Amino acid sequence: MKTVDAYNFAGKKALVRVDFNVPLDKEFNITDDTRIRATIPTVMKIVNDGGSAILMSHLGRPKGGPEEKYSLKHIIPALNEAFGREVKFADDCIGQSAADLAASLQPGEILLLENLRFYKEEEKGDVAFAEKLAKLGDVWVNDAFGTAHRAHASTAVMGQFFTDRVAGYVMEAELVNAKKVLGEAERPFTAIMGGAKISDKILIIEKLLDTVDNLIIGGGMTYTFTKAQGGQIGKSLLEADKQELALELLKKAEQKGVKIYMPVDNVCADDFSNDANRQVVRTGQIPDGWEGLDIGPETVKLFTEVVLASKTILWNGPMGVFEFENFATGTNAIAEAVVKATEENGAFSLIGGGDSASAVNQAGYGDRVSYVSTGGGALLEYMEGKTLPGVAALD
Ligand code: 3PG
Ligand code: MG
Repeated sequence: MKTVDAYNFAGKKALVRVDFNVPLDKEFNITDDTRIRATIPTVMKIVNDGGSAILMSHLGRPKGGPEEKYSLKHIIPALNEAFGREVKFADDCIGQSAADLAASLQPGEILLLENLRFYKEEEKGDVAFAEKLAKLGDVWVNDAFGTAHRAHASTAVMGQFFTDRVAGYVMEAELVNAKKVLGEAERPFTAIMGGAKISDKILIIEKLLDTVDNLIIGGGMTYTFTKAQGGQIGKSLLEADKQELALELLKKAEQKGVKIYMPVDNVCADDFSNDANRQVVRTGQIPDGWEGLDIGPETVKLFTEVVLASKTILWNGPMGVFEFENFATGTNAIAEAVVKATEENGAFSLIGGGDSASAVNQAGYGDRVSYVSTGGGALLEYMEGKTLPGVAALD
């Protein structure tokens, strides 16, 4: 795989697929700009070589036509700041105006195209649409690791129209760091899996059972395990049809000699809100009308001990509803433990997934772990052993 390091962009127009699918609040403020900051080295390499960059991305999941709330124009101020220059904007990713803007681009300049998913052809991997995009530049740079699990026009299909296909620094770093936990992990290797649903994590958990020493399970999905084991979970999250699967996973872990750690206590609430009444109860003893929204203090102690004894840590998914300040304690405490293991014990820590990355950044720990992935689904699929179309298209 050729990377931007080995390419001279002087005089070239680089068409760069990035993943600027960033979370925005109601006023269109970016609440986590990790994915934007991550692309700075690639974009700077291109412009410092004397090339120009045409950035293309999707934002959200529009229904196949323009939608104001998914316009990429909202992120232009953040791009101006990140790249230290005025970024131009084409309000249509194809068509005459995009072609004119691309053609007039001077060395050192940057152009952002409007949301690719305003055309349904993008997600369909339409070849004619990919060709139209390809005409805008001379070299294709794929730096969108976060979207590499999608076989879309801009992430994979358009590669066929270029002799020069180059991986950006984000793509390269993501693959290097993922490989560190896939193959050569130093032991003990602990995976921390959280999040709401077992169904989202089942494949990765099964895969990890072959490699990890410890598996910590936290977050919303644990209530399905507890219920399956006969505990009381009140009105906590439950995937009723996944209870058997949960028990099977535990059995498999035992057969493979993987130690499983699950919450021993929970912070529960009488309402799904930050201001709800709270109480800490033993796992499996959540009263009717209450729901678990965080791990409890005993669990934090238990999980912290395991994390601090680890040499490789993979974390995907929060321990609770960290978006509510009153239920972020468990997630923040685990983030702290991961930082400590990294800084004081020399552990390698990889944080994956949109939510866990946000949680780590929100707590201010983004720079104090080994690597924060920009990929959610993409990282999981890569870890599951799948070929990512966006990576394959670079070979
Ligand atoms: C993501 O955030 O998962 C990527 O940007 C891909 O977006 P998608 O899940 O809507 O395809
Ligand atoms: Mg996704």
